[in-house]
Amino acid sequence: MASVTSLTDLVNQRLTSALSASLPEADADPLLRRSDRADFQANGILALAKKAKANPRELATQVVGNIVTGDVIKDVEVSGPGFLNVTVADSAITETLAARAADDRLGVPLKANAGITVIDYAQPNVAKEMHVGHLRSAVIGDALRGMLDFTGEKTIGRHHIGDWGTQFGMLIQHLIENPGELTPASEVDGAEAMSNLNRVYKASRAVFDSDDAFKERARKRVVALQSGDKETLELWQQFVDESKVYFYSVFEKLDMEIRDDEIVGESAYNDGMPETARLLEEMGVAVRSEGALVVFFDEIRGKDDQPVPLIVQKADGGFGYAASDLTAIRNRVTDLHATSLLYVVDVRQSLHFKMVFETARRAGWLTDEVTAHNMGYGTVLGADGKPFKTREGETVRLEDLLDEAVQRAAEVVREKSQDLTEDEIQERAAQVGIGAVKYADLSTSPNRDYKFDLDQMVSLNGDTSVYLQYAYARIQSILRKAGESKPAAHPELELAPAERALGLHLDGFGGTVFEAAAEYAPHKLAAYLYQLASLYTTFYDQCPVLKADTEEQKENRLFLCDLTARTLHQGMALLGIRTPERL
Ligand code: ARG
Repeated sequence: MASVTSLTDLVNQRLTSALSASLPEADADPLLRRSDRADFQANGILALAKKAKANPRELATQVVGNIVTGDVIKDVEVSGPGFLNVTVADSAITETLAARAADDRLGVPLKANAGITVIDYAQPNVAKEMHVGHLRSAVIGDALRGMLDFTGEKTIGRHHIGDWGTQFGMLIQHLIENPGELTPASEVDGAEAMSNLNRVYKASRAVFDSDDAFKERARKRVVALQSGDKETLELWQQFVDESKVYFYSVFEKLDMEIRDDEIVGESAYNDGMPETARLLEEMGVAVRSEGALVVFFDEIRGKDDQPVPLIVQKADGGFGYAASDLTAIRNRVTDLHATSLLYVVDVRQSLHFKMVFETARRAGWLTDEVTAHNMGYGTVLGADGKPFKTREGETVRLEDLLDEAVQRAAEVVREKSQDLTEDEIQERAAQVGIGAVKYADLSTSPNRDYKFDLDQMVSLNGDTSVYLQYAYARIQSILRKAGESKPAAHPELELAPAERALGLHLDGFGGTVFEAAAEYAPHKLAAYLYQLASLYTTFYDQCPVLKADTEEQKENRLFLCDLTARTLHQGMALLGIRTPERL
């Protein structure tokens, strides 16, 4: 495993030392970026000249004289008021890419000071159907995790499932009065599990709403559950187990690996909640108000300018959502040694997290060494731009949605590839359809709402995963057709403009992953991959590969093809999307 310094970093180093030679006292950042005019443009000299009261063009000319050229940098020119246009040598591009190709990680280094990120994502609720909101949390969380892991960060997943609360009193009481209504989890598949749960939920709800005596028995059952009554807990466990069968079936459909030891729901923090409350009260962070234990915030006010408190413990002694999140923070920081806490939760819960984080800071559970962030994602809208509902106005079942995506993908695959068997079509359709759903989500900035538009998602043209998957499959087909010729780098060859553009972009993969991971911004990686596929298309149009002029040129172009495919594959894998070899 050998990491490779990117050309951006190399050029940056050269420019920085040339700058410091001219301006020894300045903290010299050349402000380098990719440019259309040359390979890179540096415009940091303008500000530095201003500070040093020097003429920018003169300073720029002086700096150019100090820049080492001939190997990496082919040419530097002063342009405009004092910009530097830098052109990199063709041989340096090919050599750098060859070093990347020789490494399993494409030359991408591991983070020097890796931390531990506990990432809270994919958190459905027990005995309830998953909806599109849960889809976003799972997809975004999984992609963030893939990216963070790749940089060398240690990640620990926490699926904070909703497995506690007063609704269990009703469900359990119903089961006691109607034994056998829930087929044991070991005997059902995902669909049966959910339909069983739905049936029990509806039946118990109906009695609960119409029969006051039942309501009272259900309320007592909540108390029994909270006090750890054995029979009650066993029945509660049945609901959890049955739900997990369903969750796993959906995660499998989503082609996502979820580990059982990372499903740590609200209930896991029960034992710690009284202590959380006691500590907060002792420290004076929380106060009693009308019997409840609450935390106030100066800046958080609701209607009538009344302060909105965070409720740690209700007046009846019960603990809720905030208490479990606060207890979870103590666990994640103290026991799991997290340096970052990341929550991939609907933006509509951002006020909750703001209050929870602030409370934890006041209590000293969150310190300056730990960052806490709610990656709050926006709402999923229908193709019409309105909140996503069925024609009947109900929330759309996640599974129906995924099935439909796969079905649409099957149509696309069937039409495009006539020589596949029906089994192959179905297998590809799952990879294309689920990939399409994930990519549509990930390619939008997470905090924005996005339209769930299947027609657009499985389109072969435009910024879709299918487009990327086709680019990958097309490269594989070229590599297969190359016969005796194998990909090989030839740094002595001059590069065509489309080859340079593709090469420089390939070199930026690691930088993009690090930036996207640090900013929790999977859409930046998606945009990079889309641009990679576009640059490849241009390259392919302009530079014949199998019909190249010489054998060396053919090998070098096959090499560019191969590295593009590997980069696409790696990038897509980080986002949780497959790249089939043939489509
Ligand atoms: N189960 C919740 C829901 O469906 C999301 C849980 C988010 N995570 C947390 N630590 N509060 O809305």
